[in-house]
Amino acid sequence: MAGSFVLNTGARMPSVGLGTAKTEPGAVGEAVYAAVKAGYRHIDCAPAYRNEKEIGLALKKLFEDCVVKREDLFISSKLWSGNHAPEDVTEGIDTTLEDLQQEYLDLFLIHAPVRTKKGAIRTAENYIPLNIPATWEAMEKLYVSGKARAIGVSNFSCKRMEDLLAIARVTPAVNQVESHPGWQQMKLRELCQSNGVHLSAYSPLGRPGSPAFTGPSFLINPIFIYIAEKLQKTPAQVALRWGLQMGQSVLPKSINETRIRENFNIFDWSIPEDLMSKFSEIPQNKTLRAEFVVHPQGIYKTVDDFWDGEI
Ligand SMILES: NC(=O)c1ccc[n+]([C@@H]2O[C@H](COP(=O)([O-])OP(=O)(O)OC[C@H]3O[C@@H](n4cnc5c(N)ncnc54)[C@H](OP(=O)(O)O)[C@@H]3O)[C@@H](O)[C@H]2O)c1
Repeated sequence: MAGSFVLNTGARMPSVGLGTAKTEPGAVGEAVYAAVKAGYRHIDCAPAYRNEKEIGLALKKLFEDCVVKREDLFISSKLWSGNHAPEDVTEGIDTTLEDLQQEYLDLFLIHAPVRTKKGAIRTAENYIPLNIPATWEAMEKLYVSGKARAIGVSNFSCKRMEDLLAIARVTPAVNQVESHPGWQQMKLRELCQSNGVHLSAYSPLGRPGSPAFTGPSFLINPIFIYIAEKLQKTPAQVALRWGLQMGQSVLPKSINETRIRENFNIFDWSIPEDLMSKFSEIPQNKTLRAEFVVHPQGIYKTVDDFWDGEI
């Protein structure tokens, strides 16, 4: 089931991708190499993670060692907040392509509805007003040029999706957002699905152990443990499999080879319907609230402003 999802471009997007955020220097290259050897064909990158050069070297080695060919992989990356001006969008993808040592990306996303002045550090007081229609038009040009074989967005609420769908000439292929059993995104998924936009799940394990998230991890919720024990799978595998069965791709991050393999071992079994219905009992807590965008004199005065009240 669901080794890949078909995007509205007609391309196939592998349903499990390796997340690459917040990895120690030196660890991400080995993780990418191990993941591709283990069967992953999708790597999720971003200049914000400050490791695309290291990932580029790992990709080069994978091709030189004949582990895979470029066309076997699905590589995604994202437009940084300082490159939203239409004249800077091409530079954004070009830097990423150079760092990753690639000629094209399979998917390029607007990383977030956050815009800073070019070159400014991303602090809340440096944010400037968005102009998504103008940025999206520049993204559409990348799609037409072939540098990005699909384009999309990330961290877009239902409201932002509706606004974008109303003006887009190229419908976004993907909205990459936080989604897992502890933040299920039912409304947004339905909106995306009914408009042919694939929902891709970041933090699909709910970022266990993240210092930025102090709430209880759903992985240790008794309902979740019950489901995992019933299926004789690890909680992480159950979380990822739930994602696939909800129709979303999942992007677990791990730099540990055993967990990288564990997170990919989710294809030859499924969660039966009676257990799927139990996920509705899991309390909902968003782990990435993005407090860092909030500033009394900034564009977003509250977290609710940023998420359009959808948290
Ligand atoms: N678009 C966006 O704004 C955005 C935001 C956040 C994330 N993302 C993308 O989504 C990816 C994943 O999100 P994330 O890194 O925030 O969170 P995540 O994948 O939910 O969780 C990562 C954490 O889980 C641990 N882990 C991995 N596999 C495990 C397993 N089988 N059992 C127990 N723990 C496990 C990892 O530790 P080890 O490494 O030690 O295994 C790491 O600490 C990112 O890397 C990035 O590519 C995108």
